[in-house]
Amino acid sequence: MSLELTYFGHSAFQIRSGKHVLLIDPFLNDNPLCNTMAQDVDPTAILLTHGHGDHVGDTLEIARRTNCLVIANFEISNWLQAQGVKHVHSMHLGGEHEFEFGKVKLTLAHHGSQLPDGSYGGNPAGLLLKLEDRVIYHAGDTALFLDMQLIADENLDLAILPIGDNYTMGPADSVRAIDFLRAPTVIPCHYNTWPVIAQDARKWAEMVRAETESEPVVLNSGDVWTLQ
Ligand code: NI
Ligand code: MN
Repeated sequence: MSLELTYFGHSAFQIRSGKHVLLIDPFLNDNPLCNTMAQDVDPTAILLTHGHGDHVGDTLEIARRTNCLVIANFEISNWLQAQGVKHVHSMHLGGEHEFEFGKVKLTLAHHGSQLPDGSYGGNPAGLLLKLEDRVIYHAGDTALFLDMQLIADENLDLAILPIGDNYTMGPADSVRAIDFLRAPTVIPCHYNTWPVIAQDARKWAEMVRAETESEPVVLNSGDVWTLQ
């Protein structure tokens, strides 16, 4: 089996694993980089890293239409249920749970998490996904932090890291993160969505190749890439 990743720009990814379709941080309709609309996706589960609008995105619309499972921290889960989302699984930092599609663990992230209507969104998270025999880390929005060395102990196959700077770590700190994480492959996200997070991904990739052991994979919005 292999995992098929689709990038929608910003931090939004779809991962297809057999009959399971996971949507991470589905910011689609208002995402300037994304041509796919909320009505075009049909996930079996949505996973949220934190409460900000550019991550919760179109979760309400998609979840109401498809009745898919939504996995998020406790505070966001409560908020989703109050908005009429029925099929919610709440977790929190450090906890792992086995779902039909594989395991999810919420990891630390250093950021905020307020929901779009001003509600408290709890602590932000990263996602550690164990799908088939692969381990994928989506860092969410975060600063560089030393505890990424603990996440490296999970033997990552792929790390997805923000590089946009300003709201999250930028390219230079992401290279330090890659050095901590020791994933063979890294994909950048959370950049070029707006001018304030504009980055040159080619320069970033050159830096990753020169300074780390990891192979950078730069995806454009709409690209489909297979993790073998
Ligand atoms: Ni954020
Ligand atoms: Mn963000």
